[in-house]
Amino acid sequence: MITEKILKKHDIHPLLQERWSPRVFSDQAVQETEIQLLLEAGRWAPSSSNVQPWRIIWGAKGGETYNRIFECLDPFNQKWAGNAPVLMLAAFKKTKAEGKENFHALHDLGAFSAHLTFQAQSMGIAVHQMAGVKHEEAHAEFEFTNDYHVATALAIGYYGGDSSDLPEDLQKIETPTSERKTRS
Ligand SMILES: Cc1cc2nc3c(=O)[nH]c(=O)nc-3n(C[C@H](O)[C@H](O)[C@H](O)COP(=O)(O)O)c2cc1C
Repeated sequence: MITEKILKKHDIHPLLQERWSPRVFSDQAVQETEIQLLLEAGRWAPSSSNVQPWRIIWGAKGGETYNRIFECLDPFNQKWAGNAPVLMLAAFKKTKAEGKENFHALHDLGAFSAHLTFQAQSMGIAVHQMAGVKHEEAHAEFEFTNDYHVATALAIGYYGGDSSDLPEDLQKIETPTSERKTRS
């Protein structure tokens, strides 16, 4: 049986092959123009009925919005995500214009994040997505209305950085993950 590991090594595009989710980042700043480009890449993601249900809040390290997003992360992610030059919070609108449930909104937010991630990868920028968000606190902190759900956060920065900056337990796992389920 062909494993995903072998496929990852031989068959797939370098943007996919070389991407991983680090917890330390280079000191190189991510410029606002670069962030705008990442968001633009996300904007062109496909979405069910072209509803584009994603809503993104972002902040650069040193700024108030960054600190507010950081405070919304769960304790595990707070151990490392402060290494990232940029943090994003990602929410989706649960309903369509006529008020009916948009059953595919979370799916479409995932497509947005994937587009953003591979644009970033093409620029040498790593994206580490996080489910570990205090969702209700984030919802209140950023005054989302009831038809939104805060789903994820994203830590963004250039690849690089020193894994010895991480707590010991995280240093051990700071390598590209090569494990995947088989395709059978
Ligand atoms: C939706 C989503 C949520 C995730 N949540 C977290 C998280 O809360 N904390 C974390 O450290 N990593 C998180 N990850 C990263 C995954 O653990 C990682 O993508 C997976 O182990 C595969 O590793 P790779 O991205 O390096 O290939 C998340 C990834 C995704 C796509």
